[in-house]
Amino acid sequence: MRTILVTGAAGFIGSNFVRMLMKRGERVKLIAFDKLTYAGNLENLRDIENEPNYNFIRGDITDASFVDQFFAEQLFDGVIHLAAESHVDRSIVSPMDFITTNIIGTVNLLNAARSIWLNSDPKITNRDSVRFYQISTDEVFGSLDQGGYFTEKTGYDPRSPYSASKASADHLVRAYGHTYKLPIIVSHCSNNYGPFQFPEKLIPLAINNIKNNKPIPVYSRGENVRDWIYVEDHARAIDTVFHQAKDGDHYNIGGFNEWKNIDLIHLLCKIMDEKLGRKEGTSAQLITFVKDRPGHDMRYAIDSTKISRDLGWKPSLTFEEGLSKTVDWYLENEEWLKHVTSGAYQHYYEEQYHRR
Ligand code: NAD
Ligand code: DAU
Repeated sequence: MRTILVTGAAGFIGSNFVRMLMKRGERVKLIAFDKLTYAGNLENLRDIENEPNYNFIRGDITDASFVDQFFAEQLFDGVIHLAAESHVDRSIVSPMDFITTNIIGTVNLLNAARSIWLNSDPKITNRDSVRFYQISTDEVFGSLDQGGYFTEKTGYDPRSPYSASKASADHLVRAYGHTYKLPIIVSHCSNNYGPFQFPEKLIPLAINNIKNNKPIPVYSRGENVRDWIYVEDHARAIDTVFHQAKDGDHYNIGGFNEWKNIDLIHLLCKIMDEKLGRKEGTSAQLITFVKDRPGHDMRYAIDSTKISRDLGWKPSLTFEEGLSKTVDWYLENEEWLKHVTSGAYQHYYEEQYHRR
């Protein structure tokens, strides 16, 4: 059985990806790895934590000696690297956290993978089947005006500390692929939404605020455009790329689903009014225009033709369907939301794991 490491497994996308593999009975030994920062929540993985081929390890990718030892002990066949500081607004306030985790953390993983995969006895590690998969973002390509899309040929032009740190990490991943022949793949995805997303990001923040009759903060006039994809569709894309992409290849993943923030918020208010039994127009009264994010990228839009054409992946849901499912999930999982907003989720590791 292959041993696969998923870093950042207790975060939003990581937990949805790990759940998908476990629920379909994937025959791998899966090591879910996470530091459990504010964004890491083990309650996200509660329903699969007793699966026999699942193991959770708490650790920090910025700790090079820990990472080296961990790789030497576990002999992974594959690494799917999602661990990161991921929120743009936080990167503007505390850039060093992003430099440390997203750049140094990624290099530590690359060094450990290189030293084990490229130097160890081929009888111990099957070099033909190992791969390091960097989960990147469309933000590394910068900002678009009204027309055009990010393709796999678009040059890097990151403009926030977050996207610059992800771009640096991507460059290092590619450099290790080129220089040391480390088998690597990279994908760039657009904005994800869905269950288990921390309510600092636009959609879960707005759902939580609408539910609690609090103002919905919309930066500037809400004219910025994002391309939204349901998280389970991204999880399927990661799975497809990990298993089917050629070494050294890279893919863009997106929903061909562009929305101005203000239009998205109006749609969300309409869905929430219906589900909460409020008169149409009630939730929209909570919309509050606030000061813009510094350096706010205007538009992201992904051309995902390559992954559809070459690997047969495409998104499965319309935005209306995905948003409706997402709202249902947040309304049905009040306790999850309560734990996240109160901070109670941060005790789950001590309560459930530390004592074992
Ligand atoms: P998230 O913030 O929800 O999760 C990140 C996880 O990484 C958390 O569980 C956190 O505890 C963990 N982590 C942070 N620092 C760590 C460290 N030093 N060591 C070990 N673990 C650490 O983020 P997400 O939205 O799930 O994003 C996951 C990845 O996908 C990121 O690399 C992000 O750049 C990328 N991505 C996200 C989106 C999106 O829309 N959310 C889109 C494209 C790409
Ligand atoms: O494009 C992929 C990226 O999408 C990922 O790499 C990032 O990890 C992820 O956080 C996301 O970045 P964004 O900055 O686009 O997402 P966020 O949810 O923070 O914001 C979405 C849009 O909504 C953006 O234009 C800013 C705006 N916004 C955001 C918040 C939190 C508001 O208007 N009000 C808000 O309160």
